Amino acid sequence: MLASRTFWVGRNFTLQHKFTPIQSYYASRASEYDAVYEKPERQIDLRSIEQWLPSILQGKRILEIACGTGYWTQFIAPEASSIYAIDSAEETLQIARQRIPASNVSFAIDDAYAPRTDERTFNAAFAGFWFSHVLIERQIEFLTGLNKALQPGAKVLLLDNVFVEGSSSAICERDKFGNTYQSRTLADGSRHKILKNFPSADQLHALVANGLGCLPRYTSWHFFWAFEYVVPEH
Ligand SMILES: C[S@@+](CC[C@H](N)C(=O)[O-])C[C@H]1O[C@@H](n2cnc3c(N)ncnc32)[C@H](O)[C@@H]1O
Repeated sequence: MLASRTFWVGRNFTLQHKFTPIQSYYASRASEYDAVYEKPERQIDLRSIEQWLPSILQGKRILEIACGTGYWTQFIAPEASSIYAIDSAEETLQIARQRIPASNVSFAIDDAYAPRTDERTFNAAFAGFWFSHVLIERQIEFLTGLNKALQPGAKVLLLDNVFVEGSSSAICERDKFGNTYQSRTLADGSRHKILKNFPSADQLHALVANGLGCLPRYTSWHFFWAFEYVVPEH
């Protein structure tokens, strides 16, 4: 069952929104989310990516999808021209706003599948640890919508987890489309079945090969992967 939430969108109207299980889970997890960045075995990779990522997005006007608590936003902001960072949870955005008061960064509640970007122009997009939560059967829809929000020639950068036995939560279920799920427990003891996919480099390349993206590039560390492509002419 989807939880329902009402939140302010502007001065005069509200948005009634059905939260998906993933949205509810991350809203509840906001205050404990950053612990994932403290796993000792991931520290070397994290330091490496914290240096690498801002260099790739240097000088860009960036649409950040599902920014969460702003962990990656904080490293990108000093190098970016601007960042418009969206997430579906007010709980995570509150932490992100406090963490990054920079004037070139703005935050908004919005849906990753249909960002309301108005007149803004972006020449880059970044999504950290979001793509793994997109159903395989919605991946093309998500990337098509993302491309539409960007200028032709924009760079798209997805960063996500490699499945590593002993460090990643075990896969508890696989559906008929190949989506995989993990059982996760929050500090309050609540248990959640969470969609978490681990696409291979070949699968990512195949996804953009039909005209969704040019110049694809896959980079991997022990615990993480990054996939970049360039948005073609619309
Ligand atoms: C794994 S967290 C990633 C957070 C952050 N990007 C990071 O790397 O630390 C996934 C985020 O997606 C957000 N989210 C879930 N569904 C969403 C949707 N439909 N639109 C926008 N954000 C969504 C959650 O609130 C959560 O903050």
